[in-house]
Amino acid sequence: MRALSLRLIVALIVGVTLVSLASSWYEVQAEKDALRRDLQHKAETFGESVASNAELYLEAGDRLGLEQMVQRFSNRDHLLGIGIYNADGSSLAMTPDLSAVLSDTPAGLTNALRDNRVESGSMRLHFRRVYMLAAPLHLADKSVAGGIIIVYDTAYIRAAIFRVWGRVFVHIAIQMLVIVGLTLLILRWSLTGPIARAALWMKALRTGRNVAQPLARDLDFLLPLTREVAPLAASMKEAREAAEIEARLRNTNESRWTAQRLADHVRSKLNGSNLFVVSNREPYIHNRQGNTITVTVPASGLVTAIEPILCACNGTWVAHGSGNADAETVDSNDRLKVPPDDPRYTLRRVWLSAEEEEGYYNGFANEGLWPLCHMAHTRPTFRASDWEHYNQVNQRFADALVEEMAGEEHPVVLIQDYHFALLPRMVKDRLPHARIAIFWHIPWPNSEAFSICPWQQELLDGLLGADLIGFHVQAHCNNFLNTVDRVLEARVDREHFSVKRNNHWSSVLPFPISVESSDEIIAAGERNAEEERSALIAELGIEATFLGVGVDRVDYTKGIIERFLAVESFLERYPRYQGKFTFIQIGAPTRSRIQRYADFQAEVEAEANRINDRFRRGKWRPIVFLNRQHTHQEVRRYYRAAHVCMVTSLHDGMNLVAKEYVAARHDERGVLILSRFTGAARDLLDAIIVNPYDIQSTADAIAQALNMDIGEMIERMQRMRKSVKEHNIYWWAGSLIGDLCDLRIKKAKNTKSVKAFISKKATKES
Ligand code: F6P
Repeated sequence: MRALSLRLIVALIVGVTLVSLASSWYEVQAEKDALRRDLQHKAETFGESVASNAELYLEAGDRLGLEQMVQRFSNRDHLLGIGIYNADGSSLAMTPDLSAVLSDTPAGLTNALRDNRVESGSMRLHFRRVYMLAAPLHLADKSVAGGIIIVYDTAYIRAAIFRVWGRVFVHIAIQMLVIVGLTLLILRWSLTGPIARAALWMKALRTGRNVAQPLARDLDFLLPLTREVAPLAASMKEAREAAEIEARLRNTNESRWTAQRLADHVRSKLNGSNLFVVSNREPYIHNRQGNTITVTVPASGLVTAIEPILCACNGTWVAHGSGNADAETVDSNDRLKVPPDDPRYTLRRVWLSAEEEEGYYNGFANEGLWPLCHMAHTRPTFRASDWEHYNQVNQRFADALVEEMAGEEHPVVLIQDYHFALLPRMVKDRLPHARIAIFWHIPWPNSEAFSICPWQQELLDGLLGADLIGFHVQAHCNNFLNTVDRVLEARVDREHFSVKRNNHWSSVLPFPISVESSDEIIAAGERNAEEERSALIAELGIEATFLGVGVDRVDYTKGIIERFLAVESFLERYPRYQGKFTFIQIGAPTRSRIQRYADFQAEVEAEANRINDRFRRGKWRPIVFLNRQHTHQEVRRYYRAAHVCMVTSLHDGMNLVAKEYVAARHDERGVLILSRFTGAARDLLDAIIVNPYDIQSTADAIAQALNMDIGEMIERMQRMRKSVKEHNIYWWAGSLIGDLCDLRIKKAKNTKSVKAFISKKATKES
């Protein structure tokens, strides 16, 4: 560091000195020229007046007068002397100082007399630098009667120039001192300090201590390095944690799923085959803000689960490119390598027009299938035009997938969710050797309810193109099998939970999805529950003693209004909690282009306001509605602070908020109130299970949670945490892919055209 400082300081000093000298040199030259011009002007003016007097004396032949005049004029600033000559160059009169240094007739005067013109210039006279002006003197008839010389001592010009240089050197010296001082300070503030902090951070990482990464502004000039080191540090931390967990699990003979175990498991199951994942949401979204492109990872459990698998086996993820800079970041085949920091697998983006997105996503998927599958009393809307778009977009994804799988011998395909019911069949028809699973992330209703859909046969047939169809819970599998039995010509084997259609078997199995759950102790900088509660209460500007929390997309299936009504009823039935209990609802806006969602958003706001207006006093409010997207980190703070978390979905495939709350409670405190209509209610038996339609019972559940004996609370939380740890997201992904790869797939001998089959069946029925 010392050598660097020295090099920097020397370079700065040399540079600044050279620049200062060059600019001063120009300044000095300009000063010198100005002084010379001034002297010349002075000499000319003075010369003219002396010459006109001298001509009078010459005309009169008055030599004495000439001498007296010369003496009279001799007393001027910087004037060395005056000399008058006759026409042949002999001296007539001269001031004494000049005659002391001038022995001969100056050449300038000889030239002036010969050429009858004024001569001037600098010269040396007896070691003195002088300026001489020589001019002819005329009689009245214009004939040359003699000459005059005016001589100035120019030593004062040199003295002035020396003074300027003196000033310049003083300035340069001051500049050098300032530069050295500032450089040393800047080096200390911006280089030595941050490097020391970064080194401390790296040392902490190496030795396994939990230290937060220094702030970005602290490391700005080390940013390229930080960009590389941060993921390295994260990987090291993960690897160390994974190793610690593995070791602990080995010691306790437990078998826990980790990202590493999942990666190893999937690699061995795939046995060299390549994996292809399809989902509507992409794992990385590029958006342009001004001149910069930012990349975001959507807050989705799916990304957490699928990413380690793809990273481990260098697979391909096909998804809708929804970011406004997505097109700028792909290659000519619409592909890019991700994760951006450490590219390990391929993301293939599929582009949709605004009409396609409207019809397929907003229309058929979210106004049709979503309310159809969720029994939340919102009427599904089915439009032929949306169905067309749904077909079209599924076909578009099938084309992309088939393109990606070209030349693959045994590709394995994992399709996600209700956006792609037709995709399994479309792919199977074109690539019968592909091993295909689809996971349906939402509930499957009973066959009666599903029959509302005008295209139920096509949807079921599309799904049965898959070798494995996954749901969260057995009840949804059963509903699906019943629906197939009722609607399609197919053999339903309830003993093995499978369906045979067109000589192709599809297994229908439950895989309850979960969250990433770790044993990590409180991360560096995290507060304990009490401190977090006080901090959040202060940030929200409220007063409260007890906190409840709910975290949802503002979706009519989530039972948010019922939850608010339960809070209202709780405050009525247990008035001692008025002024003490506040319920914080984190509500992420969602699908806002759909009218029902826009209306619901307004209904939730109105209900929160009504209840607040009824009870609020001072800084206390019963409900705080935080209507924006929150990051995982932000939500975790509320989970850790809340005495109670409420999940009151009217119908939900699984509901990961319930599992996230449990996973976040490292302190083994907190109570979960959970709707019996969620898939999670089958896994988290130690939650207080409620019927969200029963407002009073849900209100009583809040009172039960707040009054729960601490021992019971801990026991319940411990059991729920054990369940979430054992059946975490890696377990889910491992089971799904493991089962898909283990299936014995009998090849269809005689695959009929699906459409032909459906139209034949329809004709038969009519
Ligand atoms: O629950 C089904 C699901 O598709 C989830 O996978 C997803 O997190 C959620 O709905 C919201 O989906 P989107 O915002 O893509 O419509």
